[in-house]
Amino acid sequence: MLQLGVNIDHVATLRQARKTYEPDPVWAAALAELGGADGITVHLREDRRHIQDRDFRVLRQTVTVKLNLELACNQEVLDIACEVRPDQATVVPERREEVTTEGGLDAVGQREAVARAVRQLQAAGIAVSLFLDPVIEQVELAAEVGAEAVELHTGQYSLARGAQQQEELAKLVAAGRRIRALGMALHAGHGLNYQNVRPVAQIAELHELNIGHSIIARAVLVGLERAVREMKQAIADGAPCR
Ligand code: PXP
Repeated sequence: MLQLGVNIDHVATLRQARKTYEPDPVWAAALAELGGADGITVHLREDRRHIQDRDFRVLRQTVTVKLNLELACNQEVLDIACEVRPDQATVVPERREEVTTEGGLDAVGQREAVARAVRQLQAAGIAVSLFLDPVIEQVELAAEVGAEAVELHTGQYSLARGAQQQEELAKLVAAGRRIRALGMALHAGHGLNYQNVRPVAQIAELHELNIGHSIIARAVLVGLERAVREMKQAIADGAPCR
């Protein structure tokens, strides 16, 4: 069954807008679980612009589904991850000036730093996923450094329209095939919404989707439980019979 990880960073973004205590991402995680989330995803950024150390630590105690931490190859955050021990760590690139994660990790260019991060996280018992563009040499590097999973960056697919969207989908399908052939789990995410998720959900052997913005945006209007349930439905409608 395809799993839905709900990224709740935006709940913390709203709280940090006033540097207050509400809304609490810990409450949001509980509601997302009630709506059927299979996982909760948070990104502890080096600049702590949304999720704070306290959120991640409390979530480790309260989340009953898979807790997935997104993090960059930053030694301070890697050390916190290894102490708190989420079920999974997804290694992402991070730039201070970006609004959101803009591209996949350049695992080929940063091979040593990525390999070191994978080793440290796995030594702490954390499964590692690398967030990569659908580029075959990047995917092959993930297997070389021993990652358990690759999360394919669906940002270009989400931005594309018409024939170009089909081309981007084909890149995801081809990279996904290589990921599975190399024995890693296949994940995907970024920019997915209620309209464009279906074709991605149909990719063969896709195990996990991580979705944040569109779910939290809908939750502002209809509530988080309902927003998560409706995304689960959109995914199920798109899934092939297996
Ligand atoms: N996957 C990864 C690795 C991400 O960095 C993000 C954004 O934090 C997402 C998925 C979710 O993207 P979106 O908020 O566009 O759904």
